[in-house]
Amino acid sequence: MTSAATTARHRILVVDDEPEMAKVVEQALARRGYDAQQEHSADAAWERLEKEDFDIVVTDLNMRGMNGVELTERIVKNRHDVPVIVITAFGSLETAIATLRAGAYDFITKPFEIDQLVVAVERALSNRRLREEVKRLREEVERSKPGAEFVGDSPAMRKVHETLARVAETDATTLITGESGTGKELVARDLHRRSKRADGPFIAINCAALPEALLESELFGHAKGAFTDAKAPKKGLFVEASNGTLFLDEIGEMPPGMQAKLLRALEERTVRQVGGTSEIPFDTRIIAATNRDIESLVASGRFREDLYYRVNVVHVALPPLRARANDVLALAQQFITRYAEPMGKRVAGFSPAVGERLLAYSWPGNVRELQNCIERAIALARFEELTVEDLPPKVRDYKPSFVVVATEDPTDLVTMEEVEQRYIQRVMEAVGQNKTQAAKVLGFDRTTLYRKLERYRIGNANAATGSTGSASSPNTVAAPVVASAKD
Ligand SMILES: Nc1ncnc2c1ncn2[C@@H]1O[C@H](COP(=O)(O)OP(=O)(O)OP(=O)(O)O)[C@@H](O)[C@H]1O
Ligand SMILES: [Mg+2]
Repeated sequence: MTSAATTARHRILVVDDEPEMAKVVEQALARRGYDAQQEHSADAAWERLEKEDFDIVVTDLNMRGMNGVELTERIVKNRHDVPVIVITAFGSLETAIATLRAGAYDFITKPFEIDQLVVAVERALSNRRLREEVKRLREEVERSKPGAEFVGDSPAMRKVHETLARVAETDATTLITGESGTGKELVARDLHRRSKRADGPFIAINCAALPEALLESELFGHAKGAFTDAKAPKKGLFVEASNGTLFLDEIGEMPPGMQAKLLRALEERTVRQVGGTSEIPFDTRIIAATNRDIESLVASGRFREDLYYRVNVVHVALPPLRARANDVLALAQQFITRYAEPMGKRVAGFSPAVGERLLAYSWPGNVRELQNCIERAIALARFEELTVEDLPPKVRDYKPSFVVVATEDPTDLVTMEEVEQRYIQRVMEAVGQNKTQAAKVLGFDRTTLYRKLERYRIGNANAATGSTGSASSPNTVAAPVVASAKD
């Protein structure tokens, strides 16, 4: 163990509602080489902890307002990496034990010698170092098995894996596109984990979730007093993510004003804080994602073309789940393995009929929808294998909107009624559910169309219309396909 004087200056927050006492402890710690700071109430201490980094908190127990036990609980819950040492009056051993239960690292009884406190502080610091080391080692192990949690090696995904392997070690700005639930965030985290910045932070922000002004101060920070609530300066995520990765999610929704500022930041590699005057450099890798068709946003002028090129240095396009062939089965199995036990179920797999339904369904919500579907099915399951009854109705009753005709197998053939139903459904999809147009295409009058829509429950929430898949989806069980639109 190194002595306090030779270690880097560790920051210690001393909390005591008796200012005299706080001062004595603060000065004693400062003399031993620590950067000690004091606060005189638990509330003030908590506020400070939300804004600044401390290595250790030393707090008195009995204070007016929020007491030390509550403060300890809060720190343990929200800032579990900051050890708390509690100082308690002699004799109240019970409270001291209560704080240990609440997660305090150690306690000291009053009156105490300052050296006693220093020993406790040093122990807490070395314990913290040890935990960080373990965490780092664990992360290193994680990193050495790239894409471990990433399921699927369909041809479509193999291309993605190739791109990821190629760019993992670079610092290039990367754009990830793909429908909702295709795994964009998972890929972003994977890229970070496999990069040289893995020890640095990964910070994600959803650009669609905040109004423009807030987004700007979140990203770029603000100077003290920049606006009414800006009581303290704030670094901003570009700077906070230095040595790490900043993930700009839903970048397609970024307001135009912000787009201009982002472009500038990416070009200059510096940010200017809201209300600030100086340029602050950052060393942060940027990964952006969107589920929008960003090229058409560019074409229609809603996304700046110059920013698009800046962000799109490397492009990772995630295919929708329905284009990933049998990945859907591997993913389903993975989710069963992952969730069954924690959910207290002995489910180990699924029946072949379930596999067929999973392959046929179009998964508009992609991997996330599949994940929810499997979780729900596990909850309902009565056997060790998931059965068709465990699937949600829209998956269970899903009928692909095309008809197989080029088949040798008579069991694949369907009735005229089924053909009619699926064909109407297909036409409705093709005309964007516009009934007038559909009636025209089908050669029905509107009344007939309405009758048939009702009869086949097309267009109704529970009916089997969820398809956003294309007729040529490679996912279909029934290949060689066909459904000619004519005739
Ligand atoms: N290939 C995969 N293997 C295992 N799990 C996956 C895979 N792809 C996605 N998931 C899981 O599916 C869920 C959705 O993924 P994620 O949040 O990354 O999607 P997204 O593309 O960011 O969606 P959105 O556009 O809605 O934000 C997550 O729980 C993720 O862990
Ligand atoms: Mg996402």
